[in-house]
Amino acid sequence: MAKKTREEWKTYQDVFDQFTIRTLWELSSRGFLDGLKSPVSLGKEANVFTAEKGKDLLCAKIYRLETADFNSMYKYIRNDPRFSGLQHQRRKVIFAWCQREYRNLLKCKDAGISCPKPVIFKNNVLLMELIGIPAAPRLKEKPPASPGKFFKLVLENMKKLHKLKLVHADLSEYNILNHQEKPVFIDFSHATPLDTPNADELIKRDIKNICRYFKKLGVETTEKKIWDYINI
Ligand SMILES: Nc1ncnc2c1ncn2[C@@H]1O[C@H](COP(=O)(O)OP(=O)(O)OP(=O)(O)O)[C@@H](O)[C@H]1O
Ligand SMILES: [Mg+2]
Repeated sequence: MAKKTREEWKTYQDVFDQFTIRTLWELSSRGFLDGLKSPVSLGKEANVFTAEKGKDLLCAKIYRLETADFNSMYKYIRNDPRFSGLQHQRRKVIFAWCQREYRNLLKCKDAGISCPKPVIFKNNVLLMELIGIPAAPRLKEKPPASPGKFFKLVLENMKKLHKLKLVHADLSEYNILNHQEKPVFIDFSHATPLDTPNADELIKRDIKNICRYFKKLGVETTEKKIWDYINI
């Protein structure tokens, strides 16, 4: 795909607001993408698209400026010591949310956690590695062929996250992709340091979700066993 001109980006006006179109155009004029290709997921917080960059495909996660529930976003993110001074303003909160996902992904990728490699963020747009072509299914849609094996890989990643002193805070079969029978953790915008006031509660919830999901598939485990494994 040839790089889109400013006029061509404007044809997205039925899909995105002017501000988002401008952000996409700026990223494209800086050479980070040529254009968007197809939607992967249209959600309530964010829309996810495949994006073309030369012969490569990337993933563009575009946080919604209008419908995003920024009040609850603010409630969560202001507990994160990295964003403690954040003002309660719609755009600032959404941009911080996007930046937090980028920073978390960068840290996790560097530590060898199985997650998309982030490329860049600007305002409410995050570009990252696309997992799978076509995009890999979520665990929710594609349960693992060998639950026991897959579970071990999930635990290894959870342990690495814990070592990094981060809690994913939204971990479940909805935010783990099954990419060729290997887990890839996604959706790191909730992830917060262990010294966040309610981190204990968040980690317990992640463990509970993972325990429930794999027990249903016949894996013998308990929340305590998972906690002990990731905590040593
Ligand atoms: N890097 C990626 N590669 C492939 N697919 C992805 C990638 N990132 C996200 N997706 C797909 O897009 C979906 C939504 O992404 P994500 O979970 O990060 O957003 P979300 O915050 O849950 O959005 P919402 O809450 O609005 O539904 C995922 O469930 C997954 O199917
Ligand atoms: Mg998600």
